[in-house]
Amino acid sequence: MPIGIFDSGVGGLTVYSSIDRALPNSDIYYLGDTARVPYGNKSKETIVRYSLECASFLFENFKIDILVVACNTASSHAVDILKNYLSIPVIGVVEPGVEQALKVTKNGKIGVIGTYATIRSKSYKKNLLEKNKDVEVYQKPCPLFVPLVEEGLLEHPVTFIMIEEYLQEIVDKGIDTLILGCTHYPLLKESIKRVYPHLEIVDSSEVIVEKLKELNPLKEKGIRRVFVTDHSPAFIKLENLILSGVKVEKIELSEVCKI
Ligand code: DGL
Repeated sequence: MPIGIFDSGVGGLTVYSSIDRALPNSDIYYLGDTARVPYGNKSKETIVRYSLECASFLFENFKIDILVVACNTASSHAVDILKNYLSIPVIGVVEPGVEQALKVTKNGKIGVIGTYATIRSKSYKKNLLEKNKDVEVYQKPCPLFVPLVEEGLLEHPVTFIMIEEYLQEIVDKGIDTLILGCTHYPLLKESIKRVYPHLEIVDSSEVIVEKLKELNPLKEKGIRRVFVTDHSPAFIKLENLILSGVKVEKIELSEVCKI
């Protein structure tokens, strides 16, 4: 059962890595749209168009049976459109994250952090309230977390300053659970835990795996192929950490922009 995963860039490698470990026998095709990252500050129209193009690239070339939208921004704006457009199951990161947060919260006060576009879409907030109208949801865009992760400043003093700058306001509301609504943020999980040890941190990439595990794995080690539209330094830095030897293939953007 070939699985396609796409993200705007490097962040989705955290999702790739969870799926890779949990489903070693499945074929996995990853596309990082590194030539057009970030998606998080783009308009809905652009995010939807880019998402349709990435999904089509994976579907047309590799006959994937399931699509994982590893990007929170794309999941927030385009998952329903992708579900209508493709004839295969499409899993975004929002719903698994929401389900997990509702499972772990004790006081019903949940924080959500993400890019500007994800927070603007209110995707997490709407989904949480649809499933439980009694929870209180506090959102906060944390745009500087993405470049901090890409610069590898995971435990730098500047990162700790920004964690407090962004999070103190919603921590003061009494949240006991924090949804990491951006693919880059799991890399800051330990640093966030150090500042706020009492928070239950929800990382959608871990929850997605549970959904995929229901699939029937094949007998042999599955294929791994990773594509990028630009082999950027940020990607190279993270691929060395996460991909353990999988060769990254650079493709022309024109191969993705076909619809
Ligand atoms: N992958 C994006 C997300 O999860 C973060 C980077 C971007 O802005 O494209 O929202």
